[in-house]
Amino acid sequence: MGRIRVGVLTISDRASAGEYQDASGPLLQRMVTGLLGGEVELAVTIPDELDAIRDKLLEWVGSDRMDLILTTGGTGFAPRDVTPEATRQVIERETPGLAEAMRLASLEVTPFAMLSRGVAGIRGRVLIVNLPGSPKAARENLNAILPALSHGLELLAGGGTDAGHQYRPNKDRI
Ligand code: MTE
Repeated sequence: MGRIRVGVLTISDRASAGEYQDASGPLLQRMVTGLLGGEVELAVTIPDELDAIRDKLLEWVGSDRMDLILTTGGTGFAPRDVTPEATRQVIERETPGLAEAMRLASLEVTPFAMLSRGVAGIRGRVLIVNLPGSPKAARENLNAILPALSHGLELLAGGGTDAGHQYRPNKDRI
């Protein structure tokens, strides 16, 4: 596949109201271009409203402009944190391994990692991944899945198995 096309969706009441400047969205954009070799198609900030989040995800999936959508924010326990619920309404196939890997890696950093309820999953040919809201948490979580992300997106795009990634058991050691 060509360059990975990415949408970055910041979900925050305060950032969308202009009460503070979103730092996580721009940070994720830099990681997408610098570490994933992708290109950012759209980066938008919206409030913690379930319908607005679901509709934006559906709009982006339907636009055919993205392979990957990263959301940041709204994954915690606060009453207004509804990003996982909105995402569940959009995805057709959950990818629990990504969420498990993020929480596993994050638990090495902070016990608060278990407070993120973020989910990840696929709709059509688009992968959607929920990341927590703070720049530090968003960076650490994305870093945890970067090693497998390109290969997963290749498979999702219908690229078949990549010989470079095929599992080759060592006969002598079975
Ligand atoms: N994961 C990592 N790697 N590093 C962090 O600092 N913060 C946690 C957690 N995951 C954190 C993390 C905290 S404090 C919360 S409340 C949850 O993510 C949810 O964050 P959110 O509500 O901003 O989405």
